Amino acid sequence: LHNMDKGWLGTPIDELNRMPQCAPPLFHLKVAHDHTITVRTDLLREGEVPVPYPSKFKDAWDDVSVKMPCSEKNLFPMEAENGSGLQSRWELIQTALKGGFKCFLDVRDAILRYNIAHAKRWDFTALNLLCTEYLEHCEVQYLLENILPAMVDLALSAPRLCTMPIPLLKSRMNHSLTLSQEQIACLLANAFFCTFPRRNSRKSEYGNYPEINFCRLFEGSSPRKIEKLKTLLCYFRRVTQNMPKGLVTFKRQVLNNPPNWESSQTQLTRLHITSKGTIEEDGYGMLQVDFANMFVGGGVTGHGLVQEEIRFLINPELIVSRLFTEALDYNECLIITGTEQYSKYSGYSESFKWKHSYKDETPRDEWQRRCTEIVAIDALRFRNFLEQFLPEKIIRELNKAYCGFFRNGTNREHLSAVATGNWGCGVFGGDTRLKALIQLMAAAEAGRDLAYFTFGDMQLMRDVCEMHAFLTEKQVTVGRLYGLLNQYSSAVCKNCHTTRPDVTLYSFIYEKLSSRTPTNVLDSAKDSG
Ligand code: AR6
Repeated sequence: LHNMDKGWLGTPIDELNRMPQCAPPLFHLKVAHDHTITVRTDLLREGEVPVPYPSKFKDAWDDVSVKMPCSEKNLFPMEAENGSGLQSRWELIQTALKGGFKCFLDVRDAILRYNIAHAKRWDFTALNLLCTEYLEHCEVQYLLENILPAMVDLALSAPRLCTMPIPLLKSRMNHSLTLSQEQIACLLANAFFCTFPRRNSRKSEYGNYPEINFCRLFEGSSPRKIEKLKTLLCYFRRVTQNMPKGLVTFKRQVLNNPPNWESSQTQLTRLHITSKGTIEEDGYGMLQVDFANMFVGGGVTGHGLVQEEIRFLINPELIVSRLFTEALDYNECLIITGTEQYSKYSGYSESFKWKHSYKDETPRDEWQRRCTEIVAIDALRFRNFLEQFLPEKIIRELNKAYCGFFRNGTNREHLSAVATGNWGCGVFGGDTRLKALIQLMAAAEAGRDLAYFTFGDMQLMRDVCEMHAFLTEKQVTVGRLYGLLNQYSSAVCKNCHTTRPDVTLYSFIYEKLSSRTPTNVLDSAKDSG
């Protein structure tokens, strides 16, 4: 069938579209009713740090904007002898952080001075261990004397850098937000020092938003936290030494009119499938899928350390999306264009290690964004294997993937391929063979090719490639395939009393579509693998 030594099957990856080569002409960057831009677009120049807009800090303390630490309304009650009083929390933050750090305890104490309510609960063991056990003495000195003070300056520049109120990207909103990498660095420095108000309790008005303050990152003695801190400190070291000069766009996209899957006449698009490589490294220039949580970034500021969290750590500008992105609904995604990679890593989950600083050379587009497009789509979590074959679950996943892949008004020759893999099939317990078909269908409907990274699974590579070749050869439409998934659900899964169906999805499909007898099909399927 193919040359197995290559480690890949299907269409050669070089034949798939990538940005910037396939890019459509980009319209002029300008503010619109559905696009907020927090810099002067008229002054945007390659190689120059973008100029914040407006020139003076505009305070907003309302339910459509991010509540900023430097807001005048950011007050806290003072149990002062000189009568009851409210004090500016920003002033306290400035005093606390400007005191300098002689040892890690000073960092802890500074953060707790303006987070008094949490002083008993917050734990800084990981930060302590990093400084006392994991870093060389000179590295600790450099951290305390250089990196952290530079981060303090960056955080405290918020009123000068983040002058425009940042809109919350709420549920059912189709809205884009473009920030400069400098503004993002400032916001992330604030997240590191846990300055964002109203964000430390699940019960606040931000209950449906991800956690943004980094307090949980410092907690516990797990080696995971150490590696996470190293990766993020690498980012802060880099941006404080040499501020990146581009923009990043965060776009919340809602799918209001899902395709009619049942009647779709669309043919499958091309597939490149490989057991080697990763989405972020080998899928450069493609639409890269983030195997997301409905709270984007998942456990990145906590304990999590799988695909999404790792991506957010090596491209930390993704983390700022947690500040303003409400939990994704079933028909929503978040598209992030322009983030930069600052670190290389090895391992995965428990074995994850920060390797070294990385210089991202991805070209920039006319808006000064790195040509790296990432889409956060959250799969359903399945605790029971059979559940995912229910028609309503299949439709939900099809629409979620399609929402992520679809680009309104863009011709297919201008669309990059989708770089994906075992979406929803790790922590979320989905079936790789079903999810591969779902993603192929959604990509076809959106007019894009697919590059699939099986993450070392050779058998999966063969099975999916073979199924894709078979369906393509038989000219099976998306609609027909959808019908077969439904049939499988009702004929095999509905009456199944064990945890796993006795006929696999792929053998069912081969059987239904083949004129040959089922046993023959299965044999030949095996032989040609
Ligand atoms: N490139 C290609 N494939 C990968 C990569 C990579 N870099 N990393 C992992 N895989 P998982 P989920 C494969 O469990 O099931 C997070 O906490 C690998 O085979 O991250 O959708 C989120 O915040 C892995 O088993 O995705 C959510 O809460 C598989 O992709 C939750 O996990 C699935 O990775 C989402 O879980």
